[in-house]
Amino acid sequence: MNNDSIITFIGGGNMASSLIGGLLDTGVASKQIRVTDIHSQPLASRFPVQCYTDNLAAIIDADIVVLAIKPQILPDVAKSIAVAMPSPPPLFISIAAGIRLVDLSRWLGDSVPIVRVMPNTPALVRSGASALFAGQYVNSKQRELAENILRAVGLTLWLEDEAQMDVVTALSGSGPAYFFLIMEMLERAGINLGLPQEYARLLTLQTAFGAAKMALESQEDVATLRSRVTSKGGTTEQAVNCLQAGGLQSLFDQALAAAQQRAISLADQFGEQ
Ligand SMILES: NC(=O)c1ccc[n+]([C@@H]2O[C@H](COP(=O)([O-])OP(=O)(O)OC[C@H]3O[C@@H](n4cnc5c(N)ncnc54)[C@H](OP(=O)(O)O)[C@@H]3O)[C@@H](O)[C@H]2O)c1
Repeated sequence: MNNDSIITFIGGGNMASSLIGGLLDTGVASKQIRVTDIHSQPLASRFPVQCYTDNLAAIIDADIVVLAIKPQILPDVAKSIAVAMPSPPPLFISIAAGIRLVDLSRWLGDSVPIVRVMPNTPALVRSGASALFAGQYVNSKQRELAENILRAVGLTLWLEDEAQMDVVTALSGSGPAYFFLIMEMLERAGINLGLPQEYARLLTLQTAFGAAKMALESQEDVATLRSRVTSKGGTTEQAVNCLQAGGLQSLFDQALAAAQQRAISLADQFGEQ
């Protein structure tokens, strides 16, 4: 990130605050960051950034504008910015779930550089996973800027096909909830078999963390790691056979397809505005 680039966040909620925290940690100066929130200034007490209540005033001279507002209000906000679009336009980064590039371009203006991003909630603890898709007016320098911002809160990957964003939404966007659900179920099963609640909770969470850490740090794929801890005739094999016989893979196939379809229909709905 250049040490004179100005980044404006439109919307100062959860996602903006995690990105701002990450950027400040990576050495971006607070004077380079502006945040707007029309109703209040919730971030003013947490970060020494410049707070605005007027979106248009905050984008003057900005190099990057991060649209961090709810998808429902994004069309109106984008149209109001388009009326006062600076020339040349800044790079826009939209983190709004389910808003397609074609619609963002229609609202903001045809030749405006836009990167669409699908982050996820672990960004709040700097362990997010974000997929990025760049519109045709985004240059290589701007791609790098967008990547640097999202990398401050976790992993980043570029997509070449925007349709994959709906799969990303189903996999990593909604994914934290699937893991929370599995952890909830493991904890419950441990309690049902006689463990104290706090033990079941701690053992579940540490096992989830340890397995993810091992998988991330290993050179081997997860199937190999799994087979290595599944000895013939052992306890793990009993449990894994039980899960597979119950159709776990087929359930995940159906679950992700359902989430992908919902992402497509929400994008259709938002795009009508
Ligand atoms: N949270 C996630 O895990 C996650 C994951 C992936 C994508 N996203 C996307 O990230 C975006 C932001 O999500 P969030 O969870 O950070 O939402 P949030 O906490 O509700 O933050 C949105 C902020 O924007 C403010 N705001 C409302 N209208 C505004 C306007 N016209 N101009 C400027 N600011 C305005 C809101 O203020 P008021 O509350 O006063 O209205 C609120 O502080 C959403 O589009 C969401 O789809 C979030």
